[in-house]
Amino acid sequence: MEPTVSLTPEQVAFYHENGYLAIPRLMPDDEVAWMRDVYDRLFRERVGRDVGDQFDLAGTDDDDAPAVLPQILGPAKYAPELRESRLWVNAAHVVRQLLGPEAHFGDGHMIFKPARIGAETPWHQDEAYWDPGLDYRSLSIWVPLQEAKVENGCMWFVPGSQRLEVLPHRSVGGDVRIHALEVLGADTDGAVACPLPPGGATFHGSRTLHYTGPNRSEIDRRAYILSGGLPAVPRTDGRSFPWNDVKQTARQVRADANR
Ligand code: NI
Repeated sequence: MEPTVSLTPEQVAFYHENGYLAIPRLMPDDEVAWMRDVYDRLFRERVGRDVGDQFDLAGTDDDDAPAVLPQILGPAKYAPELRESRLWVNAAHVVRQLLGPEAHFGDGHMIFKPARIGAETPWHQDEAYWDPGLDYRSLSIWVPLQEAKVENGCMWFVPGSQRLEVLPHRSVGGDVRIHALEVLGADTDGAVACPLPPGGATFHGSRTLHYTGPNRSEIDRRAYILSGGLPAVPRTDGRSFPWNDVKQTARQVRADANR
């Protein structure tokens, strides 16, 4: 399949200048409807929960509590047909436009924000979740499968924040049972909201500060987040992310028990 979406040189330059980019279309409308069905099935069947691939990002993930921000890691493992989509072809092409022909592209995760109860995803840098011993040259592609607006949790970015180091983070509210991280002491004045039509996309770098609000609307907010990047390179400065060392999530217990 040939890609049907390409960035202009101005869009590529905007990404590198600002650390993010929003485009109104990365996949065709008929594929959005198809992918929404796949997406809903994966959450309904709670695929991957036993091995820690499905969990509540913003809660303590007790089995009897309704998830306020359910997430699935590596959804294409559970629905390989996702790899055959136009979205994958287009996203892989755009990643290479942004990072060069050597860039790899692949699966990521799905974050579901249920209507009315979906929790906010606090301000953070993605790199704060990862191995502090590596330097990343990567980006995330965030694709809503319905309209995304401020009221249902569209993406927000701080322009230029991709040039920051990784700032201090902690588990949300300081509760080490919660998987999601929040940044401490970041300046988010000047943040920009990026509402999108269904099948549009935002791109952001591993250090770009970003946020999505709670879902106060009557419609569920589904987002599929894909990933791209160049190989990470080892750091030699002994960087550490102590907020990850103290985490005690139910997800990790399930993952360890089924390893
Ligand atoms: Ni993130």
